[in-house]
Amino acid sequence: MERKPLIAGNWKMNLDLDEAVSLVNAIADSISDLPEVDVLVAPPFTALTAVKQAIGNSKILLGAQNMHWEMSGAFTGEISGRMLQEIGCTHIILGHSERRMLFGETSEGIDLKVKSAVALGIVPILCIGETLEQREAGQTFEVIEDQLVASLKNFKAERDMPPSTVLAYEPVWAIGTGLTATPEQAQEVHYFIRKWIENNFDSKLAQQIRILYGGSVKPDNVKELMSEADIDGALVGGASLKSDSFVRLIRFQEM
Ligand code: PGA
Repeated sequence: MERKPLIAGNWKMNLDLDEAVSLVNAIADSISDLPEVDVLVAPPFTALTAVKQAIGNSKILLGAQNMHWEMSGAFTGEISGRMLQEIGCTHIILGHSERRMLFGETSEGIDLKVKSAVALGIVPILCIGETLEQREAGQTFEVIEDQLVASLKNFKAERDMPPSTVLAYEPVWAIGTGLTATPEQAQEVHYFIRKWIENNFDSKLAQQIRILYGGSVKPDNVKELMSEADIDGALVGGASLKSDSFVRLIRFQEM
């Protein structure tokens, strides 16, 4: 089955409003003739409205980097999926390793967020990945499986997950470090994830779900990664912040 590639930029806590708008304008200019790749940006909350405006009629998808699972209430400092949807977000990155490690997010909480996003019709981009310590201890597959089981508990219980759901394999040791997983290392885990979906849901869904790779994706390694059978796109941090590198990433097919 053909899965449309998705290249997603996770801007993290970077770029001011002017920089955000010029980056989006540059991306919009360069994707008008590129129908076969989905392109998404996930700016900080405060830039979402300006970025949405800059996106205008171009096909760039808009995502947020986190949300609370409740729709509203006494949760100081939090933002709900409904609020994000109201300003035009169609996707939300959930369970990024920085949220898990620096802000104490657990797979249980992430499961609630995934469920809430889907209830609103927002596409979750669920991140999973092992640390260097876990990889060196030979625990990669165990860790990935545990994260899948716990972060997709609600879907698993019902044996039902929307085919639009996006998973992102991001080995923690490769994020922002310049160390990329080799295409073979990434493919091995992506294949494992797809098999897990097949075993816990069904084979049709397993073939439909897009699995992105994230961790030091750059213009000079994207093509090799994207040539692997189970790598359907990239979740990009550092290289998504400059128009020249991000545009080269989204035009990987021309390299
Ligand atoms: P990086 O970040 O591309 O800077 O390694 C990836 C991510 O955290 O999603």
